[in-house]
Amino acid sequence: MKFSRVEPAYTSKHGCRLVWEGKDEDDSDTVILNKEELESLVEILKKDVTGTIPLEDQTSSILVNSDVTQFTFQDHRQLEADTFELQKQILEFAKVPHDPQYVHISSKEFYPSVWIRKEEPKKEAKVDLKKQSSSKESLLHAILFSKPVKSDQELDESDIFRIFATRRSTRKFSKSQVEEWKVDKILAAADTAPTAGNFQGLKIFLIKNSKTKGALVEAANKQPYVNAPVVLVFCMDPSRVNLKFPKEILEKFSLQDATLAAAYSQIAASGLGLSSIWIGMFDEKMVQTILGTELRPSSILCIGYPDKKKPPKSRRKLKELIEVIE
Ligand SMILES: Cc1cc2nc3c(=O)[nH]c(=O)nc-3n(C[C@H](O)[C@H](O)[C@H](O)COP(=O)(O)O)c2cc1C
Repeated sequence: MKFSRVEPAYTSKHGCRLVWEGKDEDDSDTVILNKEELESLVEILKKDVTGTIPLEDQTSSILVNSDVTQFTFQDHRQLEADTFELQKQILEFAKVPHDPQYVHISSKEFYPSVWIRKEEPKKEAKVDLKKQSSSKESLLHAILFSKPVKSDQELDESDIFRIFATRRSTRKFSKSQVEEWKVDKILAAADTAPTAGNFQGLKIFLIKNSKTKGALVEAANKQPYVNAPVVLVFCMDPSRVNLKFPKEILEKFSLQDATLAAAYSQIAASGLGLSSIWIGMFDEKMVQTILGTELRPSSILCIGYPDKKKPPKSRRKLKELIEVIE
């Protein structure tokens, strides 16, 4: 894998994305630098010295050596760039302010502060997998028949299961602005969602303009919270789905693509300490006119800091949700 280029960030004139490319489309990596991280890198490269830059997640870092610059992450392969090449590109990039890159559908992104925590093996409870698979005490059996037990496992703040379990919709947002790097991550999360045939049959509109947000409130049955700090409209783009299936199937795929991407963004927002409300009730034609697009909108995701943090809503029992067909 070779360092390839520097690109503008998704949404802001600050920061950048560093792209590495390998043999094929799947073999690529991207590191997103925020304003301060980029400035520190420019500073070091300008002075032609060596140095270390800690990244925002506090476990990743960039080590600028005279020959090679190393990007070190937890649980991810180390990336390297030829310092001379990086210096040439970064200093060129830093000369002018760059317009944010329009949210486009590209290959999967890696950004350093999202980790999958490794399972700590439990010391006392050694599970015999062979025995477990043959006995009735499977995970599904436990879900369906066991009584709730309070887990003694401490879940990290960023643990994905904790994020799922604590997410709660918000219809009242605080006035605080959402940091642009968080918006970038929410968009990058959408970009990691699976799509039919990997054709990414969707498009995301990021609404910054308050007049447009106001118009979307009207289009969404006057739901006032659509005027949120961050408003994303997820649209279906079946024309991107290059599969030989009937039109209705391609429509269905693009609806699923857009919905999944919105769900990934919603979870990412929760993981970043934000809250959101999913809007499905809107006049499609009105939204299309407001956005000036032919693409059908599937959902609007409104994101911001919650005015008040609330506990998650309860659901029906898992055993009522699941029907086992034996
Ligand atoms: C498909 C869908 C459509 C929704 N449409 C709206 C909507 O138009 N307006 C609204 O206020 N909430 C809407 N919601 C939010 C739900 O009311 C909310 O997610 C639900 O009450 C569960 O609450 P929770 O997200 O806190 O678990 C929608 C959610 C989904 C999944």
